[in-house]
Amino acid sequence: MSVFFNDSTLNEIKSRVNIVDIIGRVIHIKKAGSNYKGACPFHNEKDPSFVVSEQKQIFTCFGCGATGDAIEFVQRYYNLDFPQAIERIANEYGIELKRNDENYERKQILYEINREAALFLYRTFNESANKGYQYMKERGIRPEALKKFGIGYADEKWDSLYIYMKNKGYDKKLLLELGLISESKGKHYDKFRNRVMFPIINTRGKVIGFGGRAIDNAEPKYLNSPENIIFHKKNNLYALNLTKQDVGKEDYAILVEGYMDVISLWQAGIKNVSASLGTALTENQARLLSRYTKNIILSYDSDGAGRAAALRGLDIFRNEDLNAKVLHVDDGKDPDDFIKKNGKEAFLKLINEALPAVEYKIEAIKQRVDVYTEEGRVKLFKEIVGILRELSPIEADIYIKKISNDTKISEGALRTELEGVRKTKPIGTKIEQEAQDIQKISNLEKNLLKLIITNPKYYSKVAPYAHVFKSRAGKIFFIVRDLYNKGINIEIKSVEEYLDDKEMKIIQDIDKNILIDGMEEQIFNDCVKEIEILDLKKREKELSDKLALTNEEENASQIKEIMEEIVQIQRIIREQEGS
Ligand code: UTP
Ligand code: MN
Repeated sequence: MSVFFNDSTLNEIKSRVNIVDIIGRVIHIKKAGSNYKGACPFHNEKDPSFVVSEQKQIFTCFGCGATGDAIEFVQRYYNLDFPQAIERIANEYGIELKRNDENYERKQILYEINREAALFLYRTFNESANKGYQYMKERGIRPEALKKFGIGYADEKWDSLYIYMKNKGYDKKLLLELGLISESKGKHYDKFRNRVMFPIINTRGKVIGFGGRAIDNAEPKYLNSPENIIFHKKNNLYALNLTKQDVGKEDYAILVEGYMDVISLWQAGIKNVSASLGTALTENQARLLSRYTKNIILSYDSDGAGRAAALRGLDIFRNEDLNAKVLHVDDGKDPDDFIKKNGKEAFLKLINEALPAVEYKIEAIKQRVDVYTEEGRVKLFKEIVGILRELSPIEADIYIKKISNDTKISEGALRTELEGVRKTKPIGTKIEQEAQDIQKISNLEKNLLKLIITNPKYYSKVAPYAHVFKSRAGKIFFIVRDLYNKGINIEIKSVEEYLDDKEMKIIQDIDKNILIDGMEEQIFNDCVKEIEILDLKKREKELSDKLALTNEEENASQIKEIMEEIVQIQRIIREQEGS
């Protein structure tokens, strides 16, 4: 099931596509036994450990652990999302895509109109002298960049674009919907006039909207296309279509505020750059970026608004598990200004010195409070503890030393306050905490404990699998074991005597909610199967870690052994999971 394509299309793709063919188009693979082998495209290696199975239609790399089917390969290899991968494959195989999207046809026309408009504006910009070109030239943007970004010009007349599009036969309603024209008293006129036009193109190469920079002092400074069924600001980033490859290659993205920042950095040779579309960064934009890299450098304007936006951005990236740092230019108002004055090397230096989230947040507090007064230092202290509290204990520990050095607040004070906060926090939420404790225990653990306390004969059957019990479930199991060893009858009452409140809650939850009556043997067998698979997966992970650490030249035979074991384990796992 896909929201984008109907099932028969997906099924057709799956049945028509051969993974050997798909992968064979881009990397050299050779037949080896019943499989194909080659050098993994997802990590650097000398000896091939990338295996493609024609029979199973999957690929696996024993070096880096990459694995998946043909669609997943295409996604990963070309940096595409699922629908994009499907589209690409369908194109290559000449399969007609049937979509679930009822607006699909209309969207295609809207894309086409925007594309036509972009071409028209581009020609206006390039074919004869005009104020737009003059303006961009004065701002120091060179022809190569102007071309690359498809910069256009909307002239001063009131209807150039409108007449052009009308002659092309496009419906006025659609032009209105896209915000290319307006209507007043029955007359239609161009929305963008005397503006330098920046086409906004999504990562699939469709023109979804425009930003238009006023050349005179017209308001607003930038006029943007309105939201419509193909233009959702919150889901897109400016220029990522052009820069995603560089973002992937550098493995970090520089996120700036403005169109001009992107173009200036790009022109200076810093090409892994993109901009949010004049709004606060959204979760979806963070997710979009995370497809190409997990590392972000926020380079917003150095004014108050830019700093506030950077703080918000840090939290959004953190929530999406991205690692973000902040850079503010120290000369000029924005990256565009800075790079024009100082050049590429100076900007790269700023990138190197960008502050990690925690440090940036602390800097931001320091700017707000007067650290020379006692009151200010108390505030600083409290707020730092607030920041540390959001980190994992390990992260917090790393920072405490550093912060203490920087701020001259004692490590001990920070630790004590942090611990205090941590300890007192659960009080108000005891019930939630208990619910969480119960949830943390896997169903596997619950089922096994239930078996033991309902029927003691299961103790000796479960005992060999004691390693699956973790934390509190583990403690319960060890109590049962002691009782068993002492010859005491195992039942819920005798176990409960040894438990604290939390463990009581857990065992009561298991007693009440885990139902096994009459199915004991079957449940036990299912548990064993699950454990076996877990153990195999653990072993597989160990082996592939080992493989990654083994020197390929010196230990060829050892590598072969490890790979054989991995293949065997994977086979067993598949059989187990299939049965
Ligand atoms: P800025 O006001 O910082 O402009 O807006 P800028 O990028 O430095 O532009 P120049 O250098 O004066 O030409 C940053 C971004 O915010 C959005 C635009 O995307 C702009 O690039 N914006 C700004 C608007 O959408 N509308 C506006 O009126 C202003
Ligand atoms: Mn600017």
